[in-house]
Amino acid sequence: MASRRGSLALVVLCSVLVLAPHGAAKKPRLVPAMFVFGDSLVDVGNNNHLAQCNLSCKANYAPYGIDLPCRSPTGRFSNGYNMADQLAQLLGFAKSPPPFLSLSNASVYQRMSTGGINFASGGSGLLPETGFNTCGEVIPMSEQVGNFTSLVRRRSGSGRDRTAADLISKSLIFISVGSNDLFEYADNFTQANVSDPSRNDTEFLQRLIASYTGYVKDLYAAGATKFSVLSPSLVGCCPFQRAVAKKFNGSEQQSGCLGLANNLSRQLHPMIASMLQDLSLELPGMNYSLGDAIEMAEFVFKRPRTRDYNFTTLDLPCCALGEFGEGMCNTWVTLCQNRSSYFFWDRFHPTDAASAITANELFNDTGHFVSPINVQQLVAPGPRP
Ligand SMILES: *[C@@H]1O[C@H](CO)[C@@H](O)[C@H](O)[C@H]1NC(C)=O
Ligand SMILES: *[C@@H]1O[C@H](CO)[C@@H](O)[C@H](O)[C@H]1NC(C)=O
Ligand SMILES: *[C@@H]1O[C@H](CO)[C@@H](O)[C@H](O)[C@H]1NC(C)=O
Ligand SMILES: *[C@@H]1O[C@H](CO)[C@@H](O)[C@H](O)[C@H]1NC(C)=O
Ligand SMILES: *[C@@H]1O[C@H](CO)[C@@H](O)[C@H](O)[C@H]1NC(C)=O
Ligand SMILES: *[C@@H]1O[C@H](CO)[C@@H](O)[C@H](O)[C@H]1NC(C)=O
Ligand SMILES: *[C@@H]1O[C@H](CO)[C@@H](O)[C@H](O)[C@H]1NC(C)=O
Ligand SMILES: *[C@@H]1O[C@H](CO)[C@@H](O)[C@H](O)[C@H]1NC(C)=O
Ligand SMILES: *[C@@H]1O[C@H](CO)[C@@H](O)[C@H](O)[C@H]1NC(C)=O
Ligand SMILES: *[C@@H]1O[C@H](CO)[C@@H](O)[C@H](O)[C@H]1NC(C)=O
Ligand SMILES: *[C@@H]1O[C@H](CO)[C@@H](O)[C@H](O)[C@H]1NC(C)=O
Ligand SMILES: *[C@@H]1O[C@H](CO)[C@@H](O)[C@H](O)[C@H]1NC(C)=O
Repeated sequence: MASRRGSLALVVLCSVLVLAPHGAAKKPRLVPAMFVFGDSLVDVGNNNHLAQCNLSCKANYAPYGIDLPCRSPTGRFSNGYNMADQLAQLLGFAKSPPPFLSLSNASVYQRMSTGGINFASGGSGLLPETGFNTCGEVIPMSEQVGNFTSLVRRRSGSGRDRTAADLISKSLIFISVGSNDLFEYADNFTQANVSDPSRNDTEFLQRLIASYTGYVKDLYAAGATKFSVLSPSLVGCCPFQRAVAKKFNGSEQQSGCLGLANNLSRQLHPMIASMLQDLSLELPGMNYSLGDAIEMAEFVFKRPRTRDYNFTTLDLPCCALGEFGEGMCNTWVTLCQNRSSYFFWDRFHPTDAASAITANELFNDTGHFVSPINVQQLVAPGPRP
């Protein structure tokens, strides 16, 4: 009896804690809504709802979320908030908008106009097939974008909707995708044979860009005009790929990262940059802010200790199994002592301390890590026509 009362009190206390930042948020919201697309760096729980999705592509069990209010595992691939939450917080929201698959038909339209919706799915990629072999089931970008555009279509079909279109054009589209495509491609060639004569990186990367172009155009056609895009980081430096590098002697000098995978991200970034530049010339009123996750990671790897953060461990994850921390994070693992001094939370994902740096830079960096403008400038109200 005593313990039942104890847990009831805890539930009540937690709802207060969860609500507090919302009520306390004095900052005005800089956009009416935010719509999030991409992979596990920004998924806030869509994969929880996929019946065929493997446990290794879900994050709805302890110790995920250990630093969230009530230590609650929500499906975020982090110890705390992820980049979607952190960017949302900088824009004046309490956290990321809710996962699309958690919304009822009744609430989905309300969310369209206030706050927004998160469509992201861990394990997914730019190519429609990415993720299915490793995860069993994911929501590919094509479907994430399709779900958004069909909501917009159904809403404007219902009549009342100049305002709805206006709201979407003022809202922020946030996309972080591509890493899983690179992982799968690199895996194919590290495990089989790196010098396979049929390997053609350029052709593969051009396929990614062709898909990406289509998604941005579809979102624009549905009324979106403000795009914040983060390109894939040094994917070869995550603990899982470092372990692969060790096994196959494929590491870059000193860094210990997997060279093949990093080379792919380094080639992809300028391709995304010119894609966005071309699209902004082609599509009237389209604006974008592109974050360079490679530059951001290199900066922290070179200077892990500053006034704003202090990482002692850059190669091993906090929630680690296996000789090189390449095993899956699970409920029984002994965690590192101090989560904010680790760059990686699990074998693929940053800690909330690390992702917060990225969110900050997307929001207010001037010229080093974002181009041509930052998110704060992107969402600033334009001159009235
Ligand atoms: C929700 O909306 C979709 C699309 O309009 C419809 O197919 C589905 O039956 C609705 N579900 C419920 C529970 O009303
Ligand atoms: C589930 O994940 C494991 C490990 O990543 C993988 O070997 C297996 O093929 C996956 N299962 C399905 C059905 O995709
Ligand atoms: C999202 O899109 C997919 C593919 O078009 C569709 O099968 C699915 O029903 C959509 N989901 C919802 C909840 O509308
Ligand atoms: C990896 O290899 C498999 C099997 O040959 C293939 O089906 C898949 O498309 C390849 N993936 C990438 C990203 O190249
Ligand atoms: C990899 O493929 C190349 C080209 O086919 C071949 O010359 C080389 O012997 C292969 N290496 C291994 C380790 O299989
Ligand atoms: C790789 O693909 C690109 C684009 O399709 C093509 O121009 C190039 O000739 C290919 N390279 C090789 C070595 O086949
Ligand atoms: C990696 O290097 C070590 C030492 O040079 C060598 O013994 C081992 O066979 C190499 N492994 C592979 C997969 O090439
Ligand atoms: C990565 O790119 C660098 C510079 O272009 C090159 O020297 C290196 O061999 C590449 N590494 C791999 C594993 O492809
Ligand atoms: C957005 O793009 C338009 C051209 O499409 C340009 O005139 C405007 O200055 C851009 N806004 C910002 C904030 O860069
Ligand atoms: C944990 O690490 C952070 C960042 O390095 C540091 O600021 C903090 O003081 C540490 N906490 C403890 C209890 O050591
Ligand atoms: C960073 O953390 C380490 C270990 O906790 C500590 O020794 C060092 O003084 C800290 N550096 C800064 C700049 O705070
Ligand atoms: C960016 O904004 C965050 C949050 O307001 C602040 O903590 C940080 O110091 C700012 N950075 C710069 C370079 O202005």
